[in-house]
Amino acid sequence: MHAERQILNDILNDLETYLEDLESQGLKEIPMQPRASKVDSSVGPLDSAGLESIAVAVGNCRLCGLHRTRTKTVPGQGCPHPELLFVGEAPGEDEDRQGMAFVGRAGQLLTKIIEAMGLRREDVFIANILKCRPPNNRRPTPEEMDLCLPYLSSQIALLRPKIIVALGATAVAGLLRPEPDFKISHMRGKWREFDGVPLMPTYHPSYLLRNNAAKAEVWIDMQNVLKKLGRVPPPRSGNAG
Ligand code: URA
Repeated sequence: MHAERQILNDILNDLETYLEDLESQGLKEIPMQPRASKVDSSVGPLDSAGLESIAVAVGNCRLCGLHRTRTKTVPGQGCPHPELLFVGEAPGEDEDRQGMAFVGRAGQLLTKIIEAMGLRREDVFIANILKCRPPNNRRPTPEEMDLCLPYLSSQIALLRPKIIVALGATAVAGLLRPEPDFKISHMRGKWREFDGVPLMPTYHPSYLLRNNAAKAEVWIDMQNVLKKLGRVPPPRSGNAG
């Protein structure tokens, strides 16, 4: 709780500085758009500013030991008002170097999955449970996940996605806190909820790189996601294989 309050304070301080910067650049007011009552695809400038503030707070974060070994923080990136939010485990080597989520081999496969769904990476938001790379890509510890989760929760509150896709066991563990011995193979494909947002657990793209057969199951899960969004996948010869 203390850590969450600290993060919130940092975010508010960063937001204040950001707004003061805008003011010093001559901005006198921030136009607010009324939210559409049914399809809420509008995004106010404050939403982007809020996401930027979270990214700044993540960049300054020293709540756990990972700040000592990280190259860049990886807050996540994409559309500020997405229908879909993909959540993975933690940055790997490529992500740590570039400061962007899912840009390595697993990321390329995620891009294929997104495109097979008839979307582009820019249409969705992509983030992780952890914002910093664990050394040698080891599994995040429960303490690291607890300390980092408030950043993702704050992002979700601003993004207001229609659906969250949890990629792999760590994303499911971080967001849903299931029993410690849960199996992703039992949870995948079944709708859950995080902070009122429907959540679909599925396999992580890295697992798909090692287990080709599991791609068909992920594709079933993504078709269910599309159905809930009222979308149909574009016609194509195969799936994301
Ligand atoms: N694996 C993840 O879980 N996230 C990334 O950003 C890259 C690989």
